[in-house]
This record gives sequence, C-alpha cells and structure tokens, in this order.
Amino acid sequence: MFNTRVKVKELLATTPENQEVTVMGWVRTFRNNQFIALNDGSTNNNLQIVVELGSYDENFLKKINTGASLKVTGLLVASLGKGQAVEVKASSVEILGECNPEKYPLQLKNKPSLEYLREIAHLRFRTNTFGAIFRVRHSLSFAIHQFFNERGFVYLHTPIITASDAEGAGETFRVSTLPFDNPPRQENGAIDFKEDFFGRATNLTVSGQLEGELGAMAFSDVYTFGPTFRAENSNTARHLAEFWMIEPEMAFHDLEDNANLAEKFIRYLIKYVMDHNREDLEFLAQRLVEEEKQRPQAERSEMGLIEKLEFVVNNQFERISYTEAIEVLLQSPAYKKKKFQYEVSWGIDMQSEHERYLVEKHFKKPVIVTGYPRDIKAFYMRQNDDGKTVAAMDILVPGIGEIVGGSQREERLEKLETRMKEMNIPVEEMWWYLDTRRFGTVPHAGFGLGFERMMLFVTGMTNIRDVIAFPRTPKSAEF
Ligand code: 4AD
Ligand code: MG
Repeated sequence: MFNTRVKVKELLATTPENQEVTVMGWVRTFRNNQFIALNDGSTNNNLQIVVELGSYDENFLKKINTGASLKVTGLLVASLGKGQAVEVKASSVEILGECNPEKYPLQLKNKPSLEYLREIAHLRFRTNTFGAIFRVRHSLSFAIHQFFNERGFVYLHTPIITASDAEGAGETFRVSTLPFDNPPRQENGAIDFKEDFFGRATNLTVSGQLEGELGAMAFSDVYTFGPTFRAENSNTARHLAEFWMIEPEMAFHDLEDNANLAEKFIRYLIKYVMDHNREDLEFLAQRLVEEEKQRPQAERSEMGLIEKLEFVVNNQFERISYTEAIEVLLQSPAYKKKKFQYEVSWGIDMQSEHERYLVEKHFKKPVIVTGYPRDIKAFYMRQNDDGKTVAAMDILVPGIGEIVGGSQREERLEKLETRMKEMNIPVEEMWWYLDTRRFGTVPHAGFGLGFERMMLFVTGMTNIRDVIAFPRTPKSAEF
C-alpha cells in the first residue's frame, strides 16, 4: 500500500517530532554511503535520508544510484547538517526500481545542457530546471481557468478537427483516412475528399476562435484553452507546430474593452504565479543569471526575472497605433544605422526584430499595438472607417515580441461577406459563421494568448521547446 506516504514538500514543512513517516521518490544523489537526497517532484528541495552506517550490506547500497526509486520509512528528526531543517533517519529502505548508472542518460554531475535535455525529454522532468518549469506551467493553467471563472466566462471546448482555416493562412495539417498511395480521385484528377472519413477535407484546428464566436453569441463571455496546430515551417525559438492557446471571446466588447481585458489577464496570471510559485521562480531567476553570464554584457537583461515580473504587474502597458509604431521604427537609430534586416514602411507585417525593438529598446515595457493595415490581417477583423486599417491588436512583450493577437470582429454581415469574397474565403461553407451576423449580431471582440510564449515570459526561458513537455517542430516529433 502506497497511500500513507507523505510528499517531500509537505515533510519539509513539518515540525520534526520523531514521528514515523514513509516517503517515496527518486534518488538525486547518494553521498558517503550515508546521505540520500530524495526528490519526488513536489518541490526542487530534496529530502535528506540518513542511512545508518553498517546497517545495510554493500551490495544493497551499490543499488542506491542517481535515478533509482525508493520507498523509505523512518523517523522525521531535526537535521544537524546545514541546508535543511529536517531529515529522515531511515529504519527501512526499499528499492522500488533500480537505475543502472552506466546506462542512465541523466547524470547530474556535469550539468547537462538544455539542448541535450531536449533529446531526453522523457527524463528531463527530473531536473530542477524542468521541475520548476512544469510546476509553473501547471499553476499558470490553473490560474487561467480561475481568472475566467471569477468573471463568469463559460469554458467552451472547441473542436480539434475542423473543416475551416480560421486564420486563412493555409498552414494547416490535413486530417484524413484516405490511402496516400492511391486516393480516390474526381474526374479532373483532384483528390475526392467526399470519400474521406468526414465526407470532406478536414484539418487540425489553427484556432478555436470561430467556434468561440458562436458561443459568445449566446453566453456573452466564453473562452477556450486547448492545443492548436500550425504547419508553418518556422524553425525558431518562438514557434511550435503544436501549441496551446487561450482564446476568450466577448459579446458587447469593442477593441478597447478587449485590450483592457487582455492586459488585466496577463497581469493576473503573473501575479498568481508570483504568489503561488515563489520558490520555483526564484530558482528560475537564478538559472537565468547563470545563463546570462555566458552572454556579452550588452545582451544581458536589464532586470532580473522577478524584478521584470513585478514591473509588469505594477505598470500599465503602453498603447500605440500601428501607424505610430512604424513612425517610431522609422525614427529609430537602429533604422537609421540599417540595423534591421527587414524593411520598414507603412503596410509591413512587423517582423520580430521590429516588435522587439519597440518593447525592449524604445518603450521598455509591454506594448499594445492597435489598428493594423487590413491587408495583412485575417478576414474576420472589423474594418475601420479609414478603409485601410482594421480593429486589430497585438500585445508585444520584451524578450519575445508578439504574445497576444486579437481584434474586434466584423459584426456587419455585408461588410464581412464582401471581405470574405475578396480574400477567397468560402462564403457558402461558412454559412454557420455568417448566421451569427444574420440573427442578432452584436459588437464583439476576443484575443488569443499563446500559452508557451506566456510561459517563456514568466520563466525567463529563451527557447519555446523548453516550456512544453514534448515539443513538435519541423522534422521533430519524438516522444
Ligand atoms: O495571432 P494569432 O495567429 O491569432 C489567432 O489565432 C486568433 N484567432 C486569436 C483570437 O483572436 N482568438 O495567434 C495568437 C497567439 C500569438 O500571439 C502567439 O502568442 C501564439 O498565438 N502563436 C504561437 N505560439 C507558438 N507557436 C506558434 N507557431 C504560434 N503561432 C501563434
Ligand atoms: Mg498574430
């Protein structure tokens, strides 16, 4: 029976009174045939187990290796050693699973690199760095639900398999059961998806937004939080082919309401993690300091991780229009010295280097940019009266660039239909979407927060592959 065991985190906070306890976990280190550092994932702090010298034979002790799993029963006593308040004086040590040190890929002695740990992602949870990251990821997910629950939003589970491409960017993964080698064909030679599983061409969703809008037209406020898939061939430290997105959708909201909610949301999430994961954040902050020592002074962050998070919680985001953003870039020393790789002019889809200049060099804080040119944005965004821009917003943050994309939606049927036709979006197929504009349409808005980008911001990690358990990127889908 296992259920009398106590987790390490709880034991470390318990007053030692020689009470008998049972703990289970994995060996981090074993020193002097006497001191075991045991970890069970509940915290980065290990529990020290003291094995009385001479009470076990040598062959048994040889099996207590890094990575082996143990069940230990003993007395919880005050520790005489420094570094911990309590320890367990073992009366019985049982090896649940041995771990051959010759073969175990995770030797903690020489600090393994993040790149190496990605290759053994099935084991990296057992390191302090990934322990902290994934406990923060859990907390952040929980905080997301709490935020919306406190505000009366309905959590809508939007479908993973869809027949539409919400963003209209054509970067979807096909879902099909047709045989690849010999698919049924129409007379003109094109593949006949009528014969496919769903009787039509389908793909993995790129966004739950369109279905979210349907929900908002009844519940007023909904959100979806789930995996989304993009077959964009971007092999960067900020793109995944499978990532998680939080997408709220609110009826009776305009762009400003939308920006207000997004800003409040981000600040809330950061505060939640600062209040609930202090220990893990402090560990990650220290990790970042160490990592930045390897970089030239000019590339190091001006603030420590915790300082940065506090700054964001306590300061309003900057708000500017796209036109102003382009103006700032054109006036910048970086532009004048031709430091940007990509061109700058009104109408461009800002590149990450531009976004990062705005937040890191110019404003030095998160920035909400609104009013993008309509030609670079999706069909569903509400058209502004100037005929050139749409009621879009992106939130840019230091170290990352775009973290949120959102907009007020085009609620006027005629304008929406015209725009869809212009952009070759199949109007007939989207009859259900257009129905919301036919039957009681209302001004509404929403946004999408990239969950892993938020994780990067909160943990100070720099590669998106390190904040999702099993990253899917071009040419990589191991585990
Ligand atoms: O800007 P995007 O494409 O917006 C949408 O999908 C809208 N339907 C959202 C909405 O209004 N409901 O994506 C939203 C966010 C981006 O700001 C970014 O943080 C993240 O999703 N994102 C990615 N994260 C990781 N890997 C990728 N390939 C990403 N693509 C977008
Ligand atoms: Mg975007």
